[in-house]
Amino acid sequence: MQQSRLLDAKKNQNGSRTLLESFFEVRSRTEELCAPLETEDFVIQSMDDVSPPKWHLGHTSWFFETFLLTRYIPDYKPYEKLYGYLFNSYYETIGDRWARANRGLLSRPTVKEVLRYRAYINDRMHDLLKSFEQSRGSDFAFLVELGLHHEQQHQELLLTDIKHLLSINPSKPVYSAAETSESSSVPSRFVGIQGGVCEVGYAGSDFSFDNERPRHRVWLNDYQLQKSNGEYVLKNVTKNGLKQVFKNLVFHGGKGATLEMRVFSESSLMREFQRAGFRNVTIHKTPNFEHGIYWQYEWSLILSARR
Ligand SMILES: [Fe+2]
Repeated sequence: MQQSRLLDAKKNQNGSRTLLESFFEVRSRTEELCAPLETEDFVIQSMDDVSPPKWHLGHTSWFFETFLLTRYIPDYKPYEKLYGYLFNSYYETIGDRWARANRGLLSRPTVKEVLRYRAYINDRMHDLLKSFEQSRGSDFAFLVELGLHHEQQHQELLLTDIKHLLSINPSKPVYSAAETSESSSVPSRFVGIQGGVCEVGYAGSDFSFDNERPRHRVWLNDYQLQKSNGEYVLKNVTKNGLKQVFKNLVFHGGKGATLEMRVFSESSLMREFQRAGFRNVTIHKTPNFEHGIYWQYEWSLILSARR
């Protein structure tokens, strides 16, 4: 990630956009994403890999408090000391943290309290950004941008987590009524995208988040995106003719850019492979040299199957 990427991308017609404007644009987007939720939706953790929306709201605020307010405001006192423990994710150097898999066990702080915390951080950041408007150092600007990119990462996670927590509910709650509307005065159109080997991940030498690296190759089949009602829908036909439709797509870098489809757990991945007609599906946890299976990165998945 280049230091000025966010700011460049968000330049207004006058060619400039302040950190303050970018800050509130990104922060309010998070709240817009949460707007369709009921209070109960904010609290539950539908599986270990999902975080409650309330936690995302707290964690992204904690990031600005820890890395900006504490650093740049002399004698800054944390809003609530315990929040450092509850909303730290995996920053070992910052301190201990509440276990990730137990985030959904906490009814306190309440949603209201977390929103109050969020508003407080916004106010303090507003003052800090104002005071740095004239003479902001590049370190400061970099940290603000880092915090905004971090919050945008959590916006993607929020959507996938909301999708999962609503999907397990037998009453089939709808996140946004507009997405299920069949009637549209705007005709839909297909955008064809050619498959092949493509490279994913950041290749530059400056800062990037750990999950943006390493750059690696993935195989993509040809696919089409249907743009309908202003929303993108992915339609796929499997080898055995099964038609699949995926809505609520998550894009990196804005709509129509790189598409990411997340699989939530090993068991759901295995289910998908079996459903697609594969057998003897094995996930190899270690390199299997006998069969020429080797991959050096821990986060990748080595998988073999027969058809
Ligand atoms: Fe985070």
